[in-house]
Amino acid sequence: MPHNELPNHRKPAIVILDFGSQYSELIARRIREMEVYSIVMSYGISLEKLKYLNPKAIILSGGPGSVYSNSAPLCDPLIWDLGIPILGVCYGMQIMVHQLGGRVEAATKKAEYGKAALVIDKSNLFLNSVVDGSTMWMSHADSVKELPKEFESLAHTQNTKDAVIANEKRGFYGVQFHPEVVHSQNGIAILKNFVYEIVGCQKNWTAKTFIDEAVNQVREQVGSKKVLLALSGGVDSSTLAFLLNKAIGNQLTCMFIDQGFMRKGEPEFLMDFFDKKFNINVEYINARERFINKLNGIIDPEEKRKIIGTEFIRVFEEESNKLGPFDYLAQGTLYPDVIESAGTNLDPKTGERVAVKIKSHHNVGGLPKDLQFKLVEPLRRLFKDEVRKVGRTLGLPEEIVRRHPFPGPGLAIRILGEVTHEKLNCLRDADYIVREEIRKAGLYTDVWQAFAVLLPIRSVGVMGDQRTYAWPIVLRCASSEDGMTADWSRLPYDLLETISNRIVNEVNEVNRVVFDITSKPPGTIEWE
Ligand code: XMP
Repeated sequence: MPHNELPNHRKPAIVILDFGSQYSELIARRIREMEVYSIVMSYGISLEKLKYLNPKAIILSGGPGSVYSNSAPLCDPLIWDLGIPILGVCYGMQIMVHQLGGRVEAATKKAEYGKAALVIDKSNLFLNSVVDGSTMWMSHADSVKELPKEFESLAHTQNTKDAVIANEKRGFYGVQFHPEVVHSQNGIAILKNFVYEIVGCQKNWTAKTFIDEAVNQVREQVGSKKVLLALSGGVDSSTLAFLLNKAIGNQLTCMFIDQGFMRKGEPEFLMDFFDKKFNINVEYINARERFINKLNGIIDPEEKRKIIGTEFIRVFEEESNKLGPFDYLAQGTLYPDVIESAGTNLDPKTGERVAVKIKSHHNVGGLPKDLQFKLVEPLRRLFKDEVRKVGRTLGLPEEIVRRHPFPGPGLAIRILGEVTHEKLNCLRDADYIVREEIRKAGLYTDVWQAFAVLLPIRSVGVMGDQRTYAWPIVLRCASSEDGMTADWSRLPYDLLETISNRIVNEVNEVNRVVFDITSKPPGTIEWE
């Protein structure tokens, strides 16, 4: 059974074969935005697996390779005989040309990177509503020199003779540019033409259909067994709690471990929201003193992270033993994690994943690999934006759906050096003001994260007629797509002034506010 398909999972309408392009996932997202289910598989997928998945069409992604190099990644030549439409994007188009008898060579003129105007030579269904002269995003060094038999060129750019090619009879199309990126005008129109008109896909990948299917699958998977979920209050675990509550009701136990490093009001909010308002059974574990005692005298950031991570696992094990036994552990694994970890940790008999995969950097607040639970991971087919849609459809309020990411070790890594009750209280108050003012300014959803950091050093100030000697607070506000790279957010001066005034006036022990203007890289978003 293919590795990322559980029994009875919906089959993808479109499979994207990944040849190493940074945009392969983006193609899948674009097609899912068209309400058509698509997944990314490695280019090396066997024909047998591909036949099992039984897609209506295949898209070959771009990639850094060169088809005429000895180590070029190529697809199984038998895919050309499957009798289904195939679209090649950039390197994917070059493979199509190469494997079907045409010729690809290093571009004689210079390689083409960036924007290029697409001149349409012959319009057809594939190029329907694509405006002549549209800007397309190019990124290639090789070019097609000779088309395979029965192919024709539909469009060119200044440096690329065959920018769009087709064998209409067989449903084979190739584009030398990247239609999936935002810089390509009408790129989405091309993908839509392929998906709806040429392949004939139906729109049936919606939050509602996903929920219906996931509810059935979870019921089938767990039967009458008990499931445990570690709830953090983030959008993934909250959506999961709602979904599982709908599927299995009181067979689900949520456990919320309060390590004492949450933001102001957060534990109360979560308990109120899930337990009281929605009657989702949440076991509140107050482990505050345990965690802060463990951090006594610890100043090294990595050591702090390790101690918090280990303690979290200990508390989790102790408490789940008390509450259990549980057969299943629910995890908010998302599709990007599954793509990266494809093929690992599978039970050879059932095809289910048996161990927990954790990204190295983000393992704090996560669970270890050797927990012997079976996993329930109904979100593993979704991208983050799809999780938000599902959460919303299940009735989660915007307050949770649109939450900023919050690190597992919480405020403990936003207090530099040793963590104490006094510093935690101070940071909580400052952080509350930052969030409140960013919200009031209507900027909460525009920024990736906005928070306060406490520096354990003192500087001199003056308040009233008194000299002060107190801590500074750093305001960190980052704009980012995915947290991998980030820029500091250009907040309006008036907003900075309000935040600074309020923090200095309202938070004890703080007499100065500074603004972090470092991008990532070289800085990281968090300070520890
Ligand atoms: P950095 O600081 O590496 O953070 O630029 C990138 C993103 O990851 C979040 N982050 C974490 N999330 N557990 C998490 O769940 C962690 O240990 C952790 N450390 C950082 C950070 O908030 C930012 O969004």
